[in-house]
Amino acid sequence: MPSRVRRRAGALVVVALLGLVLAHVALAGDPAGLSPRGPDSPQATRIEDIYWLLIAITGAIFILVEGALIVFVVRFRNRGRSRTLEGPQIHGATRLELIWTAIPVVILAAIVAFVLVKLPGINSFDSARAAGPQLTVKVEGRQFYWNFIYPNGVIQVERMRIPANHDVKLDITSEDVDHSWWIPALQGKLDAIPGKTNHLKFRADRTGTFKGQCGEFCGYEHPHMLGTVEALPNSDFQSWYDSEARAQESGTSDLGKMTFDGVCATCHGFQGQGGFGPDLRGNPIFNQPDAIKTLLRNGGIKMPAVGRGWNARQMNALLAYVKRFSGAS
Ligand code: CUA
Repeated sequence: MPSRVRRRAGALVVVALLGLVLAHVALAGDPAGLSPRGPDSPQATRIEDIYWLLIAITGAIFILVEGALIVFVVRFRNRGRSRTLEGPQIHGATRLELIWTAIPVVILAAIVAFVLVKLPGINSFDSARAAGPQLTVKVEGRQFYWNFIYPNGVIQVERMRIPANHDVKLDITSEDVDHSWWIPALQGKLDAIPGKTNHLKFRADRTGTFKGQCGEFCGYEHPHMLGTVEALPNSDFQSWYDSEARAQESGTSDLGKMTFDGVCATCHGFQGQGGFGPDLRGNPIFNQPDAIKTLLRNGGIKMPAVGRGWNARQMNALLAYVKRFSGAS
């Protein structure tokens, strides 16, 4: 076999294997098949409508083009002709050229029209279905966690609780580098950018837990920057919301643990045993609250300034929680 043919055959095998791997990943996913997660909100439903239109059109074009390619490869194969033999020189099929120019234009126009119809509803509330006042949550992207601040002062880390079937507006910002807020079942991605506040609107159509992932590479722990939205029945949400506010005001909530698990444990481990970051157990810094505060607010050599901008409530809750690491173990 000539080396050029061998190279091509090799490339074909690689492409075929890659296709198999991709198909496997797509079909074994959760949910199964090519469908995206959810949709569990009116906003994500519109995004999925666009997704399916694009899959249908590009899928049909893919089958048409690849099918024609295979037919031509078989039909016009070499059959022992000389490699240097020239084919017939044909040009000037005006009708054909007009057709293959017009069809893509029509397809693209149809896609643009469909997207323009769906677009206005993707990041807005459906006023006809509004039930009760909307909830606004401030979302801060940090290296490498999400901090949520509610209007009544409640702070949550990594996990946001919301009432199901209620409009929720997120004011998304960042305290350090670019991140991207993304809960695929509920909404599209929206960047968290330092010095700018972006707004995202959605409503969860059902109760449940919706998982997400920071969608913008933001540093070495980016893959561990997960986010979760937990949609509760409205009455459950309200009772949690009020009791959590009281607990955080009186310092009896689990905000310290939540902050440690979401912020510190990513690098230092849930028991402070170390990992990417150093072992915290028995570290003398835990007897110097001011030194910890300075470290959290300004960062260290490798450590990001994870506590920059924290209010006293969150700082004190964490300081109280990390006291357990002061003793040697
Ligand atoms: Cu934050 Cu990636």
